[in-house]
Amino acid sequence: MKAGVKARVAAATALDAVVGDGKSLDWALAQSDESLALNDRSMMRMLCYGCLRNHWQLRAQLMQLLDRPLKKRDRIIESLLIVGIFQLSDTRVPDHAAVSATVEASRALRRPKMAGLVNAVLRNFVRRNIARLDPTNDEARYNHPQWLIERLRADWPDHWQQIVAANNAQAPMWLRVNPRFDTAEKYQQTHEIEGTLVAGMEQALRLKEPRSVDDLPGFLEGQVSVQDGAAQIAAPWLLAKGVGKVLDACAAPGGKTGQLLELMSDEAKLTAIDSDEKRLTGIRENLARLGLAATVLAADASNTEDWWDGESFDQILLDAPCSATGVIRRHPDIKLLRRESDIAALATLQERILDSLWSLLNPGGRLLYVTCSVLAEENDGVIRRFLAKQDDAAEDRVLHAYNIRDLMVEKAPGFQVLPGTEGLDGFYFACLEKASEKDSR
Ligand SMILES: C[S@@+](CC[C@H](N)C(=O)[O-])C[C@H]1O[C@@H](n2cnc3c(N)ncnc32)[C@H](O)[C@@H]1O
Repeated sequence: MKAGVKARVAAATALDAVVGDGKSLDWALAQSDESLALNDRSMMRMLCYGCLRNHWQLRAQLMQLLDRPLKKRDRIIESLLIVGIFQLSDTRVPDHAAVSATVEASRALRRPKMAGLVNAVLRNFVRRNIARLDPTNDEARYNHPQWLIERLRADWPDHWQQIVAANNAQAPMWLRVNPRFDTAEKYQQTHEIEGTLVAGMEQALRLKEPRSVDDLPGFLEGQVSVQDGAAQIAAPWLLAKGVGKVLDACAAPGGKTGQLLELMSDEAKLTAIDSDEKRLTGIRENLARLGLAATVLAADASNTEDWWDGESFDQILLDAPCSATGVIRRHPDIKLLRRESDIAALATLQERILDSLWSLLNPGGRLLYVTCSVLAEENDGVIRRFLAKQDDAAEDRVLHAYNIRDLMVEKAPGFQVLPGTEGLDGFYFACLEKASEKDSR
């Protein structure tokens, strides 16, 4: 098979799995990773991310070039044509190479009879200058499903276009430098790494270019981890008023667990739970690399009777399962896989988990509620309802580091980092405190 053809075949197959079968992009990429050379693998990834980021626009363009929709059994060819159009409209691949490799890919996909159609559609795309045509509807213009555009407009009347643009951009790679070794500034200087420091976040470094963890000095020794800057805000905030017995309630794969432990003394105790047993391996691997220890349990945070030993916690991190609408730039498949009806179901689950964890918190203790969602229903909506019914709960609006206030939009209650602000992911935070026994007397 000619160079690059395998990458097109793999990209079309992965896209077909996401768009047609509802599989996650991570799953789809993993299916062919092993069988591809490094070059083909990075080409396939670039094609898949690009095609999903621009899904609605690419489809609208394809529809202008087809006399009639393709038959169901030719779904894979539709994905291949999208891969072809994306190369022609958004990449530096020369047109003739993009067309010939994509036509060849239709043969490799055992659809030799479709090679003529693929060739004609892609040549027509170039000849008719389709890439220049204005998108005909909002979905194609903003490359988001209509329901999500409407939600974002309603929740963020002044910011929704900024959010949509950030969702469709590439995310930078961030490092978290372990404070037991260094600050991000020192680490950057020592290893001459090109990147940007953010005021108020001493351990975070935004890299100019992504790199493999094998090229990160001290990665294997736990001196540095890969974690978005916004995700790094949670642990120091939770521990800002002191460290006691800590629960990380939805912990896998352990990014924030590791950071909490880096900030805690070796004697302090942390329990990390997650309901997905398979994902606990991620926590264990993270902690082994960092050389740090916690009690790690497969447990359902919404059903504490099954696992809780009766000893209350002083700090609880609830990094709740959510729509992940704040991290679409890292997972563009979310735009296709998430349904509007998921949001109410997620809010119900988030509330249930919050209710049951609250009874595990000591009087005077803190619970930090975190999501990587930008939707009000999962964020301030959940916390507002909780505060209205929970007499012993109050929001603490004092941020642990003054400068991070500039990165956040104030919500009532809580704070939102919007995706793209300083290159950060979209995260919501609300810090709740439980009345001390003295207060409640
Ligand atoms: C946003 S992710 C957590 C990311 C993690 N805190 C980190 O920083 O690496 C949410 C996690 O919640 C877990 N989860 C979902 N429902 C849960 C439940 N009822 N109890 C405990 N964990 C749950 C999921 O398996 C998932 O790993």
